[in-house]
Amino acid sequence: MERVHMGLLFLFFSMFSVMASCRNFLPSIPFDEGYTPLFGDNNLAIHRDGKTVHLSLDERTGSGFVSHDLYLHGYFSASIKLPADYTAGVVVAFYMSNGDMFQKNHDEIDFEFLGNIRGKDWRIQTNVYGNGSTNIGREERYGLWFDPAEDFHQYSILWTDSQIIFYVDNVPIREVKRTESMGGEFPSKPMTLYATIWDASDWATNGGKYRVNYKYAPYVAEFSDLVLHGCAVDPIEHVANCDNASSSKAVPSGVTPVQRIKMDNFRKKLMTYSYCYDKIRYKAPPSECVINPREAERLRRYDPVTFGNGRRHHGKHNNHGRGSKTEAVSF
Ligand SMILES: *[C@@H]1O[C@H](CO)[C@@H](O)[C@H](O)[C@H]1NC(C)=O
Ligand SMILES: *[C@@H]1O[C@H](CO)[C@@H](O)[C@H](O)[C@H]1NC(C)=O
Repeated sequence: MERVHMGLLFLFFSMFSVMASCRNFLPSIPFDEGYTPLFGDNNLAIHRDGKTVHLSLDERTGSGFVSHDLYLHGYFSASIKLPADYTAGVVVAFYMSNGDMFQKNHDEIDFEFLGNIRGKDWRIQTNVYGNGSTNIGREERYGLWFDPAEDFHQYSILWTDSQIIFYVDNVPIREVKRTESMGGEFPSKPMTLYATIWDASDWATNGGKYRVNYKYAPYVAEFSDLVLHGCAVDPIEHVANCDNASSSKAVPSGVTPVQRIKMDNFRKKLMTYSYCYDKIRYKAPPSECVINPREAERLRRYDPVTFGNGRRHHGKHNNHGRGSKTEAVSF
């Protein structure tokens, strides 16, 4: 059932992608030029072309890499192919952080891929922290309109001083606008870029219900088309050197009207969690949230416990009979 719906979704997105399927024009760089291994020894393997990297997780360790430079703003991208089959408990992350420099008030921008049991799709999660705001999670979660383990797909982060945009294959899926009320909780200090694979058995899949099964190891995530296009910060003088010479035209500067339609459609069909609507975590939504009544209603039908109005048993009971989960993935 779910497969059929995904097929329709794919068709739907294909119609749009004719216009904007162009991969980005920014040059990708060899691994060694922009990155260095971070952990996992031999579980990080660089392909002979120098541009593709395999990160694997086995019973010994996960693995990861990190950018040489710190960046203040820019456009960061990778094509990623995730491990297939049983991947419960596995997390692949593509993110920016300065947690090693600012332990108490770090910034972070995350793409996290959460593995699943066989036959169930990967989920992606995005999140943003600023100035150590770890007490306020700003997570969103989504399904995808393709199987991310079947082929490479491009995942990108645009970070400027006024907004953060997450893209999947050049479709913006989330826009975080800096608002006055967010204050320091909008990431504003230089960060490095990371890619990692690790064992998150305790929370990644159904809240820890399904753990990593090393019978299926190694779990291998492949990274390619690495783009680091930002303002690299001189570690000594702390001056940001923006790389906007030849290719500034290829860096998106915001969501275009056509992209906004695609983003809205994506979110309408495939967003399964948003902190802004989580009644269990936040009595009142954080100040930057713009509540869309239709989105609220859709999520409430999808998950009455999390997005309901506190009447847990009642809401859950009422909605199950109507097959609300199926409704949420169809359109
Ligand atoms: C960041 O947090 C620190 C306290 O941890 C505070 O002193 C500082 O003013 C904050 N910065 C911003 C920009 O809000
Ligand atoms: C280069 O880009 C950065 C951020 O993208 C911007 O702040 C800066 O003004 C640009 N510099 C020039 C010379 O265009």
